[in-house]
Amino acid sequence: MKALVLSGGAGTRLRPITHTSAKQLVPVANKAVLFYGLESLAEAGITEVGVVVGETAAEIQEAVGDGSKFGLRITYIPQERPLGLAHAVLISRPFLGDDDFVMYLGDNFVVGGIAGLVEEFRTHRPDAQIMLTRVADPRAFGVAELDAAGRVVRLEEKPRRPRSDLALVGVYLFTPLIHEAVRAVQPSWRGELEITHALQHLLDSGADVRSSVIHGYWKDTGNVADMLEVNRTVLEGVERRIDGQVDETSELVGRVVVEEGARITGSRIVGPVVVGSGTVIEDSYVGPFTSISENCRISDSELEFSIVLRDSSIAGVGRIENSLIGRHVEVTTAPPVPSAHRLVLGDHSKVQIRT
Ligand code: G1P
Repeated sequence: MKALVLSGGAGTRLRPITHTSAKQLVPVANKAVLFYGLESLAEAGITEVGVVVGETAAEIQEAVGDGSKFGLRITYIPQERPLGLAHAVLISRPFLGDDDFVMYLGDNFVVGGIAGLVEEFRTHRPDAQIMLTRVADPRAFGVAELDAAGRVVRLEEKPRRPRSDLALVGVYLFTPLIHEAVRAVQPSWRGELEITHALQHLLDSGADVRSSVIHGYWKDTGNVADMLEVNRTVLEGVERRIDGQVDETSELVGRVVVEEGARITGSRIVGPVVVGSGTVIEDSYVGPFTSISENCRISDSELEFSIVLRDSSIAGVGRIENSLIGRHVEVTTAPPVPSAHRLVLGDHSKVQIRT
C-alpha cells in the first residue's frame, strides 16, 4: 500500500500566517501540520509516499527532504496548477501503479493518527473508504449524506444547502478503481477535478464506498480560534522534557518542554507549554497551552493560550492571551509620548487593542 500526500495550494484561508509560507507547514505545538500526517503514515506501516507539490514546492522539499527522517521514501510529484484533488490522483498514476493507497491532504490534522483506519481498510478492503466528521459549517467542505443504515448515498462538494453536518475529512483510502473514476469526472464550478465527484461516480456505478465518523479533526479554515484549540489538544499530550537551560530563579510547573538551546531565566512557566530551540524567556510568565517556536525572545511579559512562530520577540508589554503571532514579529512598548499605538501590520492582520 502506498500513500499520496497533497501539499500544493496557496493557503489563502490562514492569512496572514500563510502569506509567505505553505499552509502544510503551519506549526501545531511547534511541529508542522504536515509532519503529523507523515508520521501517522509511517505508523500505519506505509513507506512509499508520493508528495504532490505546487507553487510552494521548494519550501516543502526543504522541510521534508527524502523522507528518511520519518522512515519514508518520498517521490515528489509536481502539479503545474491546483486543478483539484482528482487531478492530483490523475497525474500520480505512474507513481501509484495498481496499488491501493491512502490519499492524505497535507493541511488536515487528525488527532490520534490514521493507523486504525488503514487497518480497517486492509481488513475489509471496500472499493473506497472515506472519513467523516461533524463540523459547524459544512459549506466549507465536501458533505456526505448517509442512509438510515449509515451507508453513503450522496456526496456534494461545498454545498450551499448542506444535507448533513458530516464533512469529508482529507484522508481517503482507495483501490485502483478510483483511477477510472478520476478520468470520468468533469471540472466543477471552481474549475477543479473534485475527488468528491469521483467518489460519487464510484457510488453511482455501484461500488462499495464505506465511511467512518471520527472525532478530533482540524483543518485550516482560517479560524484562529480553531488553531489555538488544536494546539491545546496536542499540548494536552506532551510529556515534560527539559533539554535547554533553566536558571535557579525560574520555576517550571507541570508538562513543559524546553528544547535544547533554549534558555529560561527569572521566569515562571506553567504547562502544558513548548519552548523551541534558541528561544530565550526572561523575567516573564508563560501560562498553559502556549507554543513558542524557535529563536524567539520573550521578556518582561506574560503570555498564555497562544502560539508564537519563530524569530519573533515580545518585550515589556504586559499580558497577551488568545493570540497567534507570526514569524519575525516584534511586539514592544511604544515611547511614552505621544500617547498612541504605533502599528506596522501586514495584509490581513488582526489586532485587538484594549483601551
Ligand atoms: C477538500 C475537498 C473537500 C474536503 C476538504 C477536507 O477541500 O474538496 O471535500 O472536505 O478538502 O480538507 P479544499 O481544501 O480543496 O477546499
